[in-house]
Amino acid sequence: MTTRELTGLEGVVAASTRLSLVDGNAGRLVLAGYPVEEIAPRAKFEEMVHLLWYGRLPTRQELKELTANLASRRRLPRATLTLLREAAGNSAPIMDALRMAAATLSLERRESPEEDALTLVAAFPAIVGGYWRLKNGQEPIQPREDFSHANYCLHQMFGGEIGPERARGLETYLNTVCDHGLNASTFAARVIVSTRSDLVSAVTGAVGALKGPLHGGAPGPALDMVFEIGRPDRAEGVILSKLARGERLMGFGHRVYRVRDPRADILATAAEKFYATEGDRELYELARNIEKIALRVLAEHKPGRRLDTNVEFYTALLLHGVGLPKESFTPTFAIARVLGWTAHCLEQLRDGRLIRPESEYTGPVDLHFKPVSERPN
Ligand code: ACO
Repeated sequence: MTTRELTGLEGVVAASTRLSLVDGNAGRLVLAGYPVEEIAPRAKFEEMVHLLWYGRLPTRQELKELTANLASRRRLPRATLTLLREAAGNSAPIMDALRMAAATLSLERRESPEEDALTLVAAFPAIVGGYWRLKNGQEPIQPREDFSHANYCLHQMFGGEIGPERARGLETYLNTVCDHGLNASTFAARVIVSTRSDLVSAVTGAVGALKGPLHGGAPGPALDMVFEIGRPDRAEGVILSKLARGERLMGFGHRVYRVRDPRADILATAAEKFYATEGDRELYELARNIEKIALRVLAEHKPGRRLDTNVEFYTALLLHGVGLPKESFTPTFAIARVLGWTAHCLEQLRDGRLIRPESEYTGPVDLHFKPVSERPN
């Protein structure tokens, strides 16, 4: 293969997995055997945890035990909270705070990779919610063990009573995006753990990979675009001028999907359901209109490349609907994806070899060293 073909490793198979099947041409996503559209809107997040870690849905007893085990690990180590306070004092972005705080989770409970996985999944909502509150001059809330994972995520940010529609909206989101083949952050996690490093290190690296706007950072800007457009009759003009400036439309295009991302449909349906009962219905209608116009304009702009709606567009709308602030969208993605990262790490530890690809050298080979005194000024 030439370097050109290898650019971005597109099309290269670098791992075998039983966790998720991503068929980019058919627009199909299967999570450990279940079509995402069937399981994501119905399952509890804790059921997804069991499915991805142990390869099957839990029995009632197993679900009870796993739920209790996760809930008992929600409290953060004191040093993690101290770090979050320092980070808030420095106004660090939430993803930076999450990356730093994730690394501190090795302070407690390092018995086994499975224990690390439990701690990581359980602690992420407390980190994100606690940090968001600290940044806004509020104290973190003591995690409640009697809440479902989705409820706990929202409670850590807002406290008080969380309505069932909001919790279900968030849970559908968490389930929908909990795993997705060998995306950049999952690949990063697998590479790290393939050296027989630990899960906290792998997940810390994965958070760093997720942070970038080409991966997990898109939903905030996608929502900005909807607000910037403001009215359907402005959509075409704003979109055309963005493209003319060489900007990418956030929430559109995908490395693997050449058709509509199936997750976009699930989240669009969840958003529709949610906005039918609560929230700003007009905003939802506006977003649907913008999507239609964006797809038409993108098809004219890049006729050779099918650019369709990706998961981030409706993520923005759904998460905004359930009340989450824009700055917390990517960290909320991490709260979901930490499940996939840990599941991939456990799989890699079980079945995998050291991941160590090669590079093609393209630099010179015939230079000769001169001491600095002999080099020009
Ligand atoms: N808006 C405008 N043009 C686009 C877009 C877009 N959203 N996406 C791709 N293009 C254009 C590129 O500019 C490129 O044009 P060129 O050949 O003239 O340079 C062409 O389409 C092909 O793009 P690639 O960069 O080859 O696509 P790639 O597979 O590398 O990128 C990506 C996929 C990064 C998602 C891209 O579509 C993008 O930047 N989208 C916007 C950001 C976004 O929504 N990210 C979230 C992705 S979903 C997720 O990570 C969970």
